[in-house]
Amino acid sequence: MVEWSDELSVNIVSIDNQHKILIGLINEVEHTITSKSNINITDNIFASLTSYIDYHFSKEEYYFELFDYPHKNEHLKEHVCFIIKIENFKENTTNVPTEIKLNEIVTLFEFLKKWIVEHIRDTDKKYEYFFIDRGLG
Ligand SMILES: [Fe+2]
Ligand SMILES: [Fe+2]
Repeated sequence: MVEWSDELSVNIVSIDNQHKILIGLINEVEHTITSKSNINITDNIFASLTSYIDYHFSKEEYYFELFDYPHKNEHLKEHVCFIIKIENFKENTTNVPTEIKLNEIVTLFEFLKKWIVEHIRDTDKKYEYFFIDRGLG
């Protein structure tokens, strides 16, 4: 399970709230995997997580454009690489047997869980003062 901590805060309420929702969805996915829930439940909650990731990235990217954030390109590249992984997963798991799909979900989820936390702590954290100085908070 991932726990929210101040170390993950970018001190911008709206973005912290989105990150908290992401962590909540991550924990829900983990719960369905560890409790061996029906694959459809895992699949649905995992799909909610990936679509919320899309939404969240687009919100951050909106601010990068709006404020002409100087680290925009490096940050965007991280988002894009991550989205490609999710897209590949979607392509590889259409019309496959459920056990295979579940294995793919578990593999991608383990990667995703670590990636999100590190991305928030190391990459998102870099925009904190830049965004706060421009009125977000
Ligand atoms: Fe983020
Ligand atoms: Fe980000």
